[in-house]
Amino acid sequence: MITNGATIKTRVFGKLTIGEMIASGGQGTAYDAVAIDGSQYILKLYHPEFQTAESRKRLETLIAQKFETENEALITPREIINVNESIGHVTPKAPGLSLEEMLTTGGFDMLEGIQIACALARSISVLHQRGYAHGDIHANNVLVHRNRICRISVIDFDNFAGNSLPASPCLGHQLYMAPEIRVNHTPPSVEADRFSLAVLTHELLTLRHPVPNDATEAEFNEVMSAGKWLGDPGRSTKRECQQGYPPEVLDTDLSRLFRLGISHKPAERPTAEEWQDALFNSLFRVFVCPSCSAPNLVDNSKKRCVVCRIPYPVLKLSGVFGRIILDQSSTVISRNVLGGSASVSKRHAVIRRVGPEYRIEDCSANGVYRKTADSWIRLPQSSELSRQPILSAGETIRFADVECLVATA
Ligand SMILES: Nc1ncnc2c1ncn2[C@@H]1O[C@H](COP(=O)(O)OP(=O)(O)O)[C@@H](O)[C@H]1O
Ligand SMILES: [Mg+2]
Ligand SMILES: [Zn+2]
Repeated sequence: MITNGATIKTRVFGKLTIGEMIASGGQGTAYDAVAIDGSQYILKLYHPEFQTAESRKRLETLIAQKFETENEALITPREIINVNESIGHVTPKAPGLSLEEMLTTGGFDMLEGIQIACALARSISVLHQRGYAHGDIHANNVLVHRNRICRISVIDFDNFAGNSLPASPCLGHQLYMAPEIRVNHTPPSVEADRFSLAVLTHELLTLRHPVPNDATEAEFNEVMSAGKWLGDPGRSTKRECQQGYPPEVLDTDLSRLFRLGISHKPAERPTAEEWQDALFNSLFRVFVCPSCSAPNLVDNSKKRCVVCRIPYPVLKLSGVFGRIILDQSSTVISRNVLGGSASVSKRHAVIRRVGPEYRIEDCSANGVYRKTADSWIRLPQSSELSRQPILSAGETIRFADVECLVATA
């Protein structure tokens, strides 16, 4: 216990004045603290049962890692302090709201959710690459600060774990706890972090916990102990829950990662790096349904919005040659269908539907052009689907010398 207004001396930050008590949690009590230059810190004093040589050893190892120099989102303690014979630590104060607050107030859209999840996976990978686990990844230990751009902070390393370290004192948060911890009380580990990361990522992308919110406590425990992902789009039994998005909005790649990540087999769980890569790729696949505004992650299998079930718009090309309805998964644009112009190649272009998107592959000699306000721009040629330009309703394009309008069919 320390009183408001008291001062403590630190080696790294000089004199700190203690402010309000912020929270008293499992391991200690956190206070606001401010330095003479106005910079803000959090002082954490451990409860009597955690005043141990083990706590000190774990803190020393954590501080020595200097994770913050590799990833500034990792907000770790910088100094161990002793106040009235109690061990504690001082950590810079990170700005922002907790993810828990953001998840309950719906403060972000899917694109931001993916960005936050991607940044989080990146930060956690830095710990894991050195063989350490955070030990308590959950929505209250991640802060998000929005100031035009979105920044995250990972806090609360009191459950930090690593092979050479004394066991962490706590098992972690109920809602994010890996099956082996829940069932066998194994200590926190990199693999258990991966489970928590998968659960938190699920919340960030779908605004739902992987266990439906109408589950009873017993059902919740059973599902979490078994490492079953009830929302798996590949399962036949579905439950309706109101809040957030159905997991069908995810693409096949992310669904696969969730299936493995929320699994009772620790070795199967995707690494933080794998999450980072998959989340980064999915940033370019967010499609907002024109009918209901729900976000869908585009993949080949999707022909309709998974939320309102309304089919994605079908496009057509129209010109002097008539109309070409692009309702097939791929349509070859040939000299024949465009009316026979000698400038058009026999196989001029291929238009492929990827969910709601139309990608155009130019295979011609004379090119495909898009009309802009004052000129025609030749479209890039690429055999790689993700690099091919997207065709949208309302634009005018030209295959060699044959012009056509793109419209919804
Ligand atoms: N570095 C920090 N920056 C900003 N706020 C912090 C920081 N550390 C702790 N807090 C605040 O204090 C609360 C409790 O601290 P935390 O370290 O998470 O301990 P616990 O969850 O075990 O009580 C956090 O939820 C957060 O609101
Ligand atoms: Mg905490
Ligand atoms: Zn829709």
